[in-house]
Amino acid sequence: MNFELITLNWAAAATTDTEALLVLVPDAEISGADALSQLITEARASGALDNKPGKLLSTWRATGITAPRLVLVSVGEGAAAVRKAVLTGVGAIKSTPVQRLTLCLPPAANAAVVQAATQAVAEASYVYTTTKSKPEPRSLKHITLAVPDALTAELQTSLAIAAATVAGIETAKEWANRPANHATPKLLADAARSLVKSAKTSKLQCEVLGPKEVAELHMGAFMAVAQGSDEPLRFIELRYNGAAKSSAPVVLVGKGITFDSGGISIKPSAEMDEMKFDMCGAASVLGVFRALAELKPKLNVVGLIPACENLPSSRAVKPGDVVTSMSGQTIEILNTDAEGRLVLCDALTYAASFKPAAVIDIATLTGACMVALGGVRHGLFSSNDALATALQAAGEAALDPCWRLPLDDDYAEGLKTNFADVANVAGRAGGAITAAKFLQRFAADFDWAHLDIAGTAWKSGAAKGATGRPVALLLSYLLARAA
Ligand code: BES
Ligand code: MN
Ligand code: ZN
Repeated sequence: MNFELITLNWAAAATTDTEALLVLVPDAEISGADALSQLITEARASGALDNKPGKLLSTWRATGITAPRLVLVSVGEGAAAVRKAVLTGVGAIKSTPVQRLTLCLPPAANAAVVQAATQAVAEASYVYTTTKSKPEPRSLKHITLAVPDALTAELQTSLAIAAATVAGIETAKEWANRPANHATPKLLADAARSLVKSAKTSKLQCEVLGPKEVAELHMGAFMAVAQGSDEPLRFIELRYNGAAKSSAPVVLVGKGITFDSGGISIKPSAEMDEMKFDMCGAASVLGVFRALAELKPKLNVVGLIPACENLPSSRAVKPGDVVTSMSGQTIEILNTDAEGRLVLCDALTYAASFKPAAVIDIATLTGACMVALGGVRHGLFSSNDALATALQAAGEAALDPCWRLPLDDDYAEGLKTNFADVANVAGRAGGAITAAKFLQRFAADFDWAHLDIAGTAWKSGAAKGATGRPVALLLSYLLARAA
């Protein structure tokens, strides 16, 4: 998909040569004498177009309108309302052969509105095709966003950011949606490498460690998870060098469990297929790097992805086994299904070697977080108030919101054990928090935040599929840092 931004008022939109015209209609007095204004006024007066946000009227060859297809959607105020209206409007045309769409934004559209609209067009029209034998790819190709006012440099920049964010989100969706046999640790590493190769910049680098190198680093917790599978682990290291070497990087750590069966503590079979999404954290890191390559902001970023499968076998780690993490801390693995924190803890220890400005891990970590926050907000945990505030603000700005949860030391009580320095699980209560408390033990030497995306990274049911979150939040945070 490609996007452009132009100035076009309703009078000009009426006669613009395009396949489909999607007009967001604000709840305001309409005074124009042009065909579009007249049509909207009549449609409203007759009740055909309700001015409640989200109400839609779709027409074919309307009088005085050049575009054969015209879709009107009533819109409320602000970026979130624009996002909703665009999702509705594009939903009405995405299954048609329309390739060229002109989208008329309401007056006084700001950067946030342009970004929300662009991302919503992509979101509503996305289709996964990779493992279909007769794919029906997305038909929408050229999107013209139209504002009635004069274009500013700020609006143009926001379009570029939005287009790169879309590319990042779709990279994340692609890898997250792929079934586990099409997204093995090795294939994820190949994806990271080819992302670097196809980037039109030399600012990106990728290094991939295999079982031998990971053993040399003594990543005992990560290796314990991987040992049950014949599929060898990979530790992926991405670098984006957008600033001087001396500038401390932000490190992103993405959980890359390409399939989580639970291991010996095996999961029930219902919906177990969804555990192919247990690498959504990793996918979001790939997505962020895809966008960084395009936007080239002035900062340094490191991406770390511990990738492996969590499977039961005669070689698998067993409940009660004690392993030694890279940090030297010993861990009693009481539940092999709490594997995310095990691969992450070694990656966090490794992250310290970059002398990072901040470390953010992103993980589909706990069912408990899904219970707590549902599919709306990511769980956010942080040892640093300024970092937490920045991530919260980035989430709000990008319409990819999170919610901070506590890290009181009392929550760590349940992780105590007689047989190791720490256990990998506590009781059922506060499961998202106890998981974060486990990670915090490995993040003492830097400013750290943890995003639990178990509820937000994918949708179940008929709309089953990855959401590409939190690519937008992370990019918004990084770009704000670079500015
Ligand atoms: N990948 C899961 C978390 C998960 C579960 C995400 C369901 C989305 C939906 C994680 O590895 C896991 O299994 N966590 C356990 C932890 C428990 C054993 C302490 C969980 O949440 O049940
Ligand atoms: Mn698990
Ligand atoms: Zn998992």
